[in-house]
Amino acid sequence: MGKYQEAYDESIKNPSKFWGEAAKDIRWIKEPTKVLDDSNKPFYRWFTDGEINTCYNALDYHVENGRADQTAIIYDSPVTDTIKKYSYRELLDETSRFAGVLKSLGVAKGDRVIIYMPMIPQAAIAMLACARIGAIHSVVFGGFASNELAIRVDDAKPRIIISASCGIEGKKVIEYKPLLDKAIELSRYKPEKCIIYQRKQASSPLTAGRDLDWDEMMKKAGPAGCEKLKATDPLYILYTSGTTGIPKGVVRDNGGHAVALKWSMKNVYDVSPGDVYWAASDVGWVVGHSYIVYAPLLYGCTTIMYEGKPVGTPDPGAFWRVISQHNVKVLFTAPTAFRAIKKEDPNGEFFKKYDLSSFKALFLAGERLDPDTYEWASRLLKKPVIDHWWQTETGWAIAANCIGIENLPVKAGSPTKCVPGYQVEILDSEGRQLPNETEGIVAIRLPLPPGTLPTLYQNDDKFKESYTDPFPGYYFTGDGGYYDRDGYIYIMGRVDDVINVAGHRLSTGAMEEVIAKHPDVAECAVVGAADDFKGQLPLGFVVLKAGVKRSGDEIIKELVQMIRDQIGAVAAFKQALIVERLPKTRSGKILRAIMRKIADGAEYKAPSTIDDPAILTEIEGHLKTIGYAKKQ
Ligand code: COA
Ligand code: AMP
Repeated sequence: MGKYQEAYDESIKNPSKFWGEAAKDIRWIKEPTKVLDDSNKPFYRWFTDGEINTCYNALDYHVENGRADQTAIIYDSPVTDTIKKYSYRELLDETSRFAGVLKSLGVAKGDRVIIYMPMIPQAAIAMLACARIGAIHSVVFGGFASNELAIRVDDAKPRIIISASCGIEGKKVIEYKPLLDKAIELSRYKPEKCIIYQRKQASSPLTAGRDLDWDEMMKKAGPAGCEKLKATDPLYILYTSGTTGIPKGVVRDNGGHAVALKWSMKNVYDVSPGDVYWAASDVGWVVGHSYIVYAPLLYGCTTIMYEGKPVGTPDPGAFWRVISQHNVKVLFTAPTAFRAIKKEDPNGEFFKKYDLSSFKALFLAGERLDPDTYEWASRLLKKPVIDHWWQTETGWAIAANCIGIENLPVKAGSPTKCVPGYQVEILDSEGRQLPNETEGIVAIRLPLPPGTLPTLYQNDDKFKESYTDPFPGYYFTGDGGYYDRDGYIYIMGRVDDVINVAGHRLSTGAMEEVIAKHPDVAECAVVGAADDFKGQLPLGFVVLKAGVKRSGDEIIKELVQMIRDQIGAVAAFKQALIVERLPKTRSGKILRAIMRKIADGAEYKAPSTIDDPAILTEIEGHLKTIGYAKKQ
């Protein structure tokens, strides 16, 4: 039996022994005596009686154990022409002072703090400072508009919001402060204070009585120490798109998270302490939480915070420049970033300019790694290209080629095999397990391993309804897929109304809610149509109210603007069709999956329950006029 199989079998047969061993790598304030607590199913808890501080493990421990002068963070920002390095000692100093700032404002264990920031080191410092004092951070991606921020403010009820004067997107300076002000105006709940990090590219006037200047506060602050936390105390909440306009507040605990992430650095990514590890994502997404901030620091690596894009900052050689300049060993990004590079530099001319001798492996996630991109990246890099599948909810990989355990042969289109701890099964709609080579619903047998979500923020019922009620004994992933005859898993896309646009997870339901507010719209549907570059793009189908005489183009323009204003530019909602009616079942359910198939030019079969099959031909005709519905 190979090493992978051995480790995997052990993790499933004896999870307490397996994760108990992994937990020895963490510095506990009080060692846990119990590994898995399954006394309140389906709410499993890990290391329940352990006490820990995640920030201590990520910073103080390394300073005390020989890494004080090692670089912890490299901030590489082509958009501001800056490279700044923080040693572990410097990062600890800034973090403990910022923790002191938070404490001076009365922030205490269990209080929520929202962080709405661009990719600057202050975002990581703010996260770690919260972890230090036991405040629960909730980072909101900077590409979300005020309304999305307001929804999260109302749910998390933060005492403090930390933001910056602006973000920089390529050549554009995006002022954050007006977005923040608008969000606070929209939210019912009002934070007590906001701390604003002023950047040179745009400074924002502070709101008297509410806003405080980051630098001023830091000058006055003394350092704060590490709070003693229960392993099960929440470290953060990260909101993610569900099928409706209300995002789900995924909770992460302290103990299980630290154990799983530290374990993953060696076993999944095969890096060692001291190596340079780069996740080219954003702190607003789960990849940023886990693999820009927490995992590399817990493991004593150097992490890179890159404020730039794969192309245009300044050219498609940007990633190769960063890898060669900072001796990156592992890069983790989304396939769409590689499609962007491939589009601009198909023959790898920029790649040839750099020495990539430090580079060992590329990991991709966030969306399916399509075989074309896999082949292109493999040919170019001549290094392992590894697709791995995970979700905000799990916080780390569910399926991967765990090269630190054993380098398995990979297959294009498959994220290889289940990571130890995850027992993934393919089910039919009745919850019966399907044989290999049969596509179905992807579910994971409970318990999930440490590091995965214990619940949704203050919403155990929604947790059960969304994840564990659909198939008792399982966690429902929302993805569809299958195993091949060799036990390799294939994840083919969501079976719900969540879509993936350039590796960003978005809800079509949320977009429909915005469109439905337009005064001329009677009803609408949004589906994710396949796109060569971004993987999927949202596509709207809109039925106007009877008697509306205005030009359809004008209305569509307004809808595009509404989505931009209310969800954010990141939704990339650019196209909609005005149709006479939507295809529905006789009971009135909109047939979104069929509309998506028609748009993608895929085979489809009208269900027997359809109200009027002729409508599908009408929709197909409409789609052809805008370049969709091309037969594959
Ligand atoms: N703050 C403000 N606006 C943001 C933003 C942020 N943090 N991130 C994105 N946006 C805006 C962009 O400026 C763009 O606006 P525009 O419509 O005015 O041009 C819009 O949101 C769409 O952004 P994006 O999806 O990033 O598309 P892009 O065309 O600018 O870039 C890629 C395409 C592929 C280069 C880019 O998506 C990318 O690098 N993706 C990597 C994937 C990734 O980070 N995934 C996260 C999970 S691993
Ligand atoms: P997020 O929560 O933003 O990480 O998005 C999670 C969703 O992205 C998953 O449910 C999948 O639909 C998709 N996804 C992420 N990684 C992969 C992958 N490697 N292969 C296929 N789909 C993926």
